[in-house]
Amino acid sequence: MDFKMAIATTLAAATPLGADELNTWLETPPSPEMGDYAFPCFKLAKTLRKAPPVIAQELAMAIVLPKGVARAEAAGGYVNFYLDKAAQAKAVLERVFAEGERYGGSDMGKKRNVCIDYSSVNIAKPFHIGHLPTTVIGSALYRIYNHLGFRSVGINHLGDWGTQFGKMIVAYKLWGDRETIDKGGVDELVKIYVRYHQEVESDPTLDDQARAWFKRIEDGDVEALELFEWFKTITLKEVEEVYDILGIRFDSYAGESFYNDKMGRVVDELREKGLLKLDQGAQIVDLSDYKMPPCIILRSDGATLYATRDIAAALYRKDTYDFAKCLYVVAYQQDLHFRQWFKVVELMGYDWAKDLVHVSFGMVSGTEGAFSTRKGNMVKLRDVLSAACEKTYDIICEKSPDLEDKETIAKQVGVGALVWNSLYNGRIKDVVFDWDAVLNFDGETGPYAQYTHARACSVLRKAGYAPGAVDYSVLADAEAAAVVAAIGAFPQAVVEAMEKNEPYFVTRAVMGVCAAFNKFYYEQRIMADDETVRAARLALTDATRQVIAVGLGLIGVAAPERM
Ligand code: ARG
Repeated sequence: MDFKMAIATTLAAATPLGADELNTWLETPPSPEMGDYAFPCFKLAKTLRKAPPVIAQELAMAIVLPKGVARAEAAGGYVNFYLDKAAQAKAVLERVFAEGERYGGSDMGKKRNVCIDYSSVNIAKPFHIGHLPTTVIGSALYRIYNHLGFRSVGINHLGDWGTQFGKMIVAYKLWGDRETIDKGGVDELVKIYVRYHQEVESDPTLDDQARAWFKRIEDGDVEALELFEWFKTITLKEVEEVYDILGIRFDSYAGESFYNDKMGRVVDELREKGLLKLDQGAQIVDLSDYKMPPCIILRSDGATLYATRDIAAALYRKDTYDFAKCLYVVAYQQDLHFRQWFKVVELMGYDWAKDLVHVSFGMVSGTEGAFSTRKGNMVKLRDVLSAACEKTYDIICEKSPDLEDKETIAKQVGVGALVWNSLYNGRIKDVVFDWDAVLNFDGETGPYAQYTHARACSVLRKAGYAPGAVDYSVLADAEAAAVVAAIGAFPQAVVEAMEKNEPYFVTRAVMGVCAAFNKFYYEQRIMADDETVRAARLALTDATRQVIAVGLGLIGVAAPERM
């Protein structure tokens, strides 16, 4: 039963407006004393030509309370609605038990595809801490969209094209050693690449050689391609190790080079549509009408650019997946890049340009001592994950020395702490990374949420809990009601996370359930003497466990049963 909709329907009968619209007006009051839903009457003041408090009084008198709503009260310019606690508990918990792992899910996506371009690593470059947000935001959105009945298509748009690969080959030929690189991985590739940039200062002919090698890659020369593929294999091996740790997968690794043979279409179409302009030898799309610098399509030497490839990729994705939305989870530094080429696609006459979304995010920075600054800001993601697991292991040894399989749990908690930390605030906010805050078991952290889940599991285990009939009327105390309300708010949070492409709505909803449950746990005895009360409280504990697990699953954090 949807209480909010029922209230909206009641209001519709007493006002000139429709239930659907009124439903969007209903607010959740800041504290439970003010009811479960509040209707802001000032929105009707103009239409009804009355003061909001007068409207509130009249509405509170006039409406017929729907089933499950205990009372309606005028308070200033609002009408506050109070749900019948037992009815609410019954509706919410029965939904959790019926839907289980699918709780908060729906089929609103109607199986439409949503492409999510995330993580999108660069070949032969380190996979560093700055890639954490795109990787975890992208994979959280992947799960959230799937939960709502969309079909997520995860795309790793590899940075695997560009003149730097010519440079890499030159560097490898001069100073590289196959065995060392096979063993040392990307670090070794970066080393010779850095050396290239030092040596080219005194020997500019290196750049000519690099250009020649890059041309050989483009022309499909066997040796050049073999080396290029080898760089790719080395990089992907390291990157995939991290994906495994994070439990992330992609449906496609079609990167920039995948579009080599798909550039012609972009250029031809732009030319046919009269959008290309010659500017100092380069082919550009003029965007001055939109107060943006031009989007460069072809350089004067005929080479395509990052934006050209993104346009080709968008056309390809539309053809291949017929997406309802195509998301690009990329740092805010590329805001202009996306605004420019989205505009170009729009100017090409594609109405689906409106479905391209840049899901932008802020920076990750460390507090003093959070990262080893020895390597500058190139802190490798893998190292951060390992450090998190090690630190967690120490904490667990200290807090729960008897826990079985400490290592597995330490991994789940350490990784979970990092992921949670990246998904706890709005994306655009810069993430400041502070080990103590991230791994704090009592703050608003991943470990706290996992701990709450483990606590609920432990209560159920010790009680030998088995689901049975529940008398929901005994869950009317303030603490239990708060847990019910938090659980009941979860499905809407999932929808909001999808609509705004902000996974933190889910993270916060999980936090809400955890906080409410812990308060309940401390203030009410779950193992009450009264059998009816005990059964109901255990059922509430079971629902809590379920919802936390679903929520953590959506954001990509494990939910261990013991901690
Ligand atoms: N590889 C790029 C970078 O590291 C990100 C690519 C994002 N995706 C895209 N379609 N442009 O900056």
